[in-house]
Amino acid sequence: LQGVVVKNMSFKLGQTLTITVIPNSEATHFVINLGNSDDYLALHMSFRFDAHGDTRTVVCNSYHGGMWFEEHKEAQFPFNQGEKFKTNITFTKEQFLVALPDGLVIHFPNRQRDEKYKCIDFEGEVRIQSIEII
Ligand code: GAL
Repeated sequence: LQGVVVKNMSFKLGQTLTITVIPNSEATHFVINLGNSDDYLALHMSFRFDAHGDTRTVVCNSYHGGMWFEEHKEAQFPFNQGEKFKTNITFTKEQFLVALPDGLVIHFPNRQRDEKYKCIDFEGEVRIQSIEII
């Protein structure tokens, strides 16, 4: 289920990307992807209420050359179906820092060490309320 796609943004080192979303009240999962092309996702975040064999788990990964790389699974899951939440994403050449509710911060390696990202897209059962880069 492809949702909102942004193809020509400019999200650079030192900036903060703020996204506000509302997962549907019966969402099984939804995805936020950040990357520089269709076949390169630097940060894939799959918020799984109950999907792909995971319950209440955030799975992060990157995708290049048609392959998924090493997954990072987060044990904390401070989200509920039907409830709005906000995330602030920043990055360095080494890693992404994703600030989520309840003080949860996910660290995920910036595997291709890019300094700028152009594309963001959303998949699944979620409504996007706002996307802002400051
Ligand atoms: C797979 C899933 C993909 C992606 C990937 C992340 O199981 O089918 O959509 O989330 O995990 O590693």
